[in-house]
Amino acid sequence: MTEADLVIRRARLLTLAPLKEERPRVGPSAGDVGAVEGGWLASRDGVVVATGRGDSWQELDRTPGAVEIDAEGRVVMPGFVDAHTHLCYAGQRWDEFVTRKSGADYLAVLERGGGIHATVRATRGASDADLLALLSRRIARAITLGTTTIEVKSGYGLEPTEELRQLRVIAAAAKSSPIDIAVTYLALHALPAAHADDRRGFVRDAAEAVRTVADEGLAEAVDAFVENGVFDTDDVRPLAKAARDAGLALTLHADQLNDVGATAFAARAHARSADHVANASSEGLRALARAAIPAVLLPGSAFFVGYAPPDARRFLGAEVPIALATDHNPGTSPLEGMATAIALGVVLCGLTPHEAIVAATINGAHALGRGGRTGALVKGRRTDALVLDTDDERELAYRLGAPIVREVYAAGHRVA
Ligand code: NIG
Ligand code: FE
Repeated sequence: MTEADLVIRRARLLTLAPLKEERPRVGPSAGDVGAVEGGWLASRDGVVVATGRGDSWQELDRTPGAVEIDAEGRVVMPGFVDAHTHLCYAGQRWDEFVTRKSGADYLAVLERGGGIHATVRATRGASDADLLALLSRRIARAITLGTTTIEVKSGYGLEPTEELRQLRVIAAAAKSSPIDIAVTYLALHALPAAHADDRRGFVRDAAEAVRTVADEGLAEAVDAFVENGVFDTDDVRPLAKAARDAGLALTLHADQLNDVGATAFAARAHARSADHVANASSEGLRALARAAIPAVLLPGSAFFVGYAPPDARRFLGAEVPIALATDHNPGTSPLEGMATAIALGVVLCGLTPHEAIVAATINGAHALGRGGRTGALVKGRRTDALVLDTDDERELAYRLGAPIVREVYAAGHRVA
């Protein structure tokens, strides 16, 4: 038998094991966490080598110095996959937050040159070193809160040269991070005032930058904010083509505040995921279901901005796989940590706690094209695991804000 260098035993083990083959979970598997009472997990060199139940772990060969953890009945589950964040920014938007809470409209603030543009000004003004420090601190904080795979977007540079600078900062952070970071070039986030009369030109430059991004290995996906008064699906077309030609995945901020047909567009363009989708049409849902593309629900932004959150029952009823993410950003979703996203997914979107856990782990992994690598504690996956401070995982959705994540392992190493 393979030797283990890490054994976690006496756990309520949530394996998230697939029912048949590995695919984004829908239907009966949308809420199946694969719980094993009295379970154990063995890992070697950062990869799960075996799982089991009861005392059978004692038969495992162990390396000299192998680490043994007695979970004492606590929940052991896959680390969280946060499939949508904007962690690379400087500055804050507390004033805007207060203004919006007194009635100002998110898109109207953006139109006036605030919102995203305010963060663009602050981020452009930050040195590489300062930006790297801010980003690294945010990643470290996410790890403490249980995230073991995280997507990080650029998007607060707008002009391609500044976007490339921010992507290089993200690459530097990823290099020294103990967790897996999926980088996305958010190419179309807002139109800079300097290009107000040359929108197509701006889109063309962004699409051209995709080549450089791919050549330098700076991102694995390309994203755009498709919204009334921001960018439309015609703007995204050349970008989607550039991504396809460069071998990069596509993901979209789709139908967040209004139905602009972006969800169906994402499905037609074979996007990796369609995100936000709070106002997606039934046609959009059917298109996602047919293509088995995960919808990434981001209840944090609905909560903070105050719009109607996506109704998870609609998506599940249409057999659309659901992932949950924080959307951490200084404008619409300052929340930190996936446990909070799980609680909001349950309270606001109508997921069951188990559906929310599937959405925050294996389906998040699928949304990042990593469904075979992480998100489940089964043989051959990376040992990305959490020990919770509870014997009932439903508490993740219930103890809002409580420090419920006790230990975090990424690729078999304790990282928090
Ligand atoms: O996911 N809506 C577009 N992008 C972000 C918010 C960006 C911002 O306001 O800074 C989002 O909500
Ligand atoms: Fe976002």
